[in-house]
Amino acid sequence: MKEVRISVSASAKAVDRVLFVSKDGGHLPKGIKKEEFQGEKGSTLLLHSDKGRTLYIGLGEKEKIEIDLLRRAAGVAIKQFLKIGAEVLAVELGEWNEYAQAIVEGALLASYRFEDFKLPASRRKNALKELQLVTTASHFVAVKKAALVGQILAESTNYTRSIGNQPPNELTPAALADEAKALAKDVGLKVTIFDEKKLKAGKFGGILAVGQGSAAAPRLIVLEYWGGSAKTKPVALIGKAITFDTGGISIKPGASMDEMKFDKMGGCAVLGAMQAIARLKLPINVVAVIASAENMPSDRAYRPGDIITMYGGKTVEILNTDAEGRLVLADAITFAREKYQPQSLVDFATLTGACVVALGANRAGFFTDSVTLRDSLNKAGKETGDLVWELPLGEEYDAEMKSDIAVVKNAGARWGGACTAAAFLKVFVEETPWAHLDIAGTAWITSDKPHLEKGATGFGVRLIVEALR
Ligand code: BES
Ligand code: MN
Ligand code: ZN
Repeated sequence: MKEVRISVSASAKAVDRVLFVSKDGGHLPKGIKKEEFQGEKGSTLLLHSDKGRTLYIGLGEKEKIEIDLLRRAAGVAIKQFLKIGAEVLAVELGEWNEYAQAIVEGALLASYRFEDFKLPASRRKNALKELQLVTTASHFVAVKKAALVGQILAESTNYTRSIGNQPPNELTPAALADEAKALAKDVGLKVTIFDEKKLKAGKFGGILAVGQGSAAAPRLIVLEYWGGSAKTKPVALIGKAITFDTGGISIKPGASMDEMKFDKMGGCAVLGAMQAIARLKLPINVVAVIASAENMPSDRAYRPGDIITMYGGKTVEILNTDAEGRLVLADAITFAREKYQPQSLVDFATLTGACVVALGANRAGFFTDSVTLRDSLNKAGKETGDLVWELPLGEEYDAEMKSDIAVVKNAGARWGGACTAAAFLKVFVEETPWAHLDIAGTAWITSDKPHLEKGATGFGVRLIVEALR
């Protein structure tokens, strides 16, 4: 996607302007009647003058305004203006200078559209070209700095969305690995790809089993960022990247199966996070391990009843081939622990339908055994609008995943499916401080929102980068 130019100045040079107005104490446009517009949350008013167009965005009551409200309001404004052909926009920061980062994020997230297969690049229009932030001179330095951070975070999120929206015939595990290589070259990361041959040699039994039914062979993608001191252990980010999940031999029902191209979003979020971490030059060490496969039924697919030996030697009784995400994650987790002895592990996965049943589409579920990770995820969730809600780990779930004929089984009973999936992962995490994010409900949306186009959301990128910052 083409980059948006962002500038900071004392007066708007664009003819199209955005202004935020709170309900009380807000500066209502002159001559406007109360019935027409009074800054209610979610309301907008477009005025024309000989100087250009001004879009007023209502924020509601001033005391209730939180950061994500400004982020979304900026998104609503940009989407409305793009719809009516604006390309260069000025946002009057007014009293909202401290929200500059979120405003830039909201604007750039709203301007993203997935058009790769729709129009030739030359015929695409209504894209945001320039965003002017208007503020007073005393705020220039702070606003410029915040805007740059917001730009990087939004662009990395949009990068995750643009990979996520790719169709499964194009974006195979090998293509995802190529994408990771391109990213590594672009921002300066070390990259290692395990192809099928190397996966076999390394005995990555989980990834190989899930991938063996597909003609598109699996990959393990490893990225390293060493921005911290040589003595500190890295944080490991683990991602599930099933490029298409049919369920395998335990095949899924046909309805909405197309959405299972988004079963790679955990891995895509980790790629976006690595991009942001490198571009922000964070003073920390981070490694990323992304396990990618396509889950297909075929004459060579893995089956219910199989017992597979995972990377590291633990055995798993397969009861349902649709519980494939935990298998590829387990190999990635064990590999990360063995290779890097990380100070903590955070995994991202569209892991269970049960998580969507529990929490819906607005919050991701998370599981952790670490007070530090719990606090920083909750805090980063509020800050970024990537909302999370904690779900439980516990011995009762561990017990449910025990197998009579192997170390663990890959599926428990129907109820509490998000929790038993986490219990499965815990077997491979062992003692490392860990958080598991089940992003099955939040990784994509199926209809447009006023501030966001439908499709991949990039959930998790801003969340984890904020937590690490
Ligand atoms: N990718 C799915 C989970 C999913 C379902 C994400 C719907 C988003 C929307 C995952 O691989 C899966 O199929 N999980 C099963 C596990 C079960 C077989 C134990 C599930 O949730 O039904
Ligand atoms: Mn599945
Ligand atoms: Zn899946």
